[in-house]
Amino acid sequence: MSGSDKAWGGRFSGATAELMERFNASIGFDRRLLEVDVAGSKVYARALERAGLLTAPECARILEGLDRVLRELSAADHEFDPAVEDVHMAVEARLTEIVGPLGGKLHAGRSRNDQVSLDERLYLRAAAAAIGGRIRRLQAVLVASAQDHRKTVLPGYTHLQQAQPILFSHYALSLFWALDRDLGRLGDAVGRSDRMPLGSGALAGSAFPLDREFMARELGFAGVTPNSLDAVSDRDFLLEALAALSILMMHLSRYCEDLVLFSSAEFGFVELDDAWATGSSMMPQKKNPDSLELVRGKTGRVYGDLVSLLTAMKGLGLTYGKDLQEDKEPVFDAFDTASDCLDVFASAWETMKVNAGRMAGAVDAGALATELADFLVETGVPFREAHRVVGAVVREAAAGGHALTDLTLADLRAHHPAFDEQALERLDLRASLARRNIEGGTGPAAVERQLLQAREILAEAGTEG
Ligand code: ARG
Repeated sequence: MSGSDKAWGGRFSGATAELMERFNASIGFDRRLLEVDVAGSKVYARALERAGLLTAPECARILEGLDRVLRELSAADHEFDPAVEDVHMAVEARLTEIVGPLGGKLHAGRSRNDQVSLDERLYLRAAAAAIGGRIRRLQAVLVASAQDHRKTVLPGYTHLQQAQPILFSHYALSLFWALDRDLGRLGDAVGRSDRMPLGSGALAGSAFPLDREFMARELGFAGVTPNSLDAVSDRDFLLEALAALSILMMHLSRYCEDLVLFSSAEFGFVELDDAWATGSSMMPQKKNPDSLELVRGKTGRVYGDLVSLLTAMKGLGLTYGKDLQEDKEPVFDAFDTASDCLDVFASAWETMKVNAGRMAGAVDAGALATELADFLVETGVPFREAHRVVGAVVREAAAGGHALTDLTLADLRAHHPAFDEQALERLDLRASLARRNIEGGTGPAAVERQLLQAREILAEAGTEG
């Protein structure tokens, strides 16, 4: 196509270089905005009619034409010519073929700058809703798992050293709450993008009396953007969504890391279902947790998407620069990647075998040392002193090759006279858990209340818990 054949070709006499045509084109990826682009154009046509720039029959023909454009261009086998540049041009070009020169009236008072900002806001709204459904599904898997494992005890770690015993339900629900905040962050991004930009034109605002409130209502927005320069040049709402997705992926990656470790022969706490593991091409015995490793690995990719858009926008003077065309691929990639990761992670968790015996068996008696210190505190010993006393008990037991639970009352009393029979009873897993029924603790009663809260949240969201 020669430069002068293009929609903007009036000012040009020479042809666009072929490489430039390919380099400039975004149709290869922004075709994903086709549906929202057409939806925006239909409302825009009606605004033009209300402003007296289209007659009623003209508007009707454009609306019908746009429906046909959507049907044709969304066909799976439709091939776009890179010479059309982008989805906005592709729609207008085909519309004009269908309705004739009338198609050329649709773009009055509009620019691709306000058009693309609208499309991206509409895309974000739908993509966030879809990913929200997937987050809810994973939360439901975690609640069911927590329900099944209300009695399963595992060692809790800090610094990957055994710290204190915890309930597996408590562990599963810890991710539930993180996901709830992830969902909130995505909702915040959508909330701040909820302003309708059409009428901003290229940058200065349209010269035609378009009813922006009407367009906002018809397109389901809470209001209109208050500043045309800001409307066409910012993509902070996409950055916020990318940040929210990055944080979501960071959360998943940490649980992946735990489960990869927990599924090793040394731990044997969980075993992935065959459906979510793969084998080695060389070593016949291997069953590798690739599903979880990939989720962990793809976290880097989503961070990359965030950093790539942040970097593309850094120092970009106002208002629109073609740099902004680089905003779409990272956003599509991040939503696609996070969606798959949520589904894979949910299925891997839902189907994995939890080996309660191995978990409880792995709890080191030393993880009950805090119980002894707490016992002394209850008898009036200052905590710092109790800590030092029990530290010495642990050191002595370790030196003699004994577990904390092997110690006799005499052994304990040699360290502090306040120890009595009841101190020995503290050295029990269930007793330790039962003393942690404080709100938010790992005690069985506290976890029961937590489960109830989680189920209420899912029920309110209309997800089966
Ligand atoms: N394809 C462009 C983008 O994605 C649409 C906006 C083009 N605007 C312009 N002034 N060339 O950003």
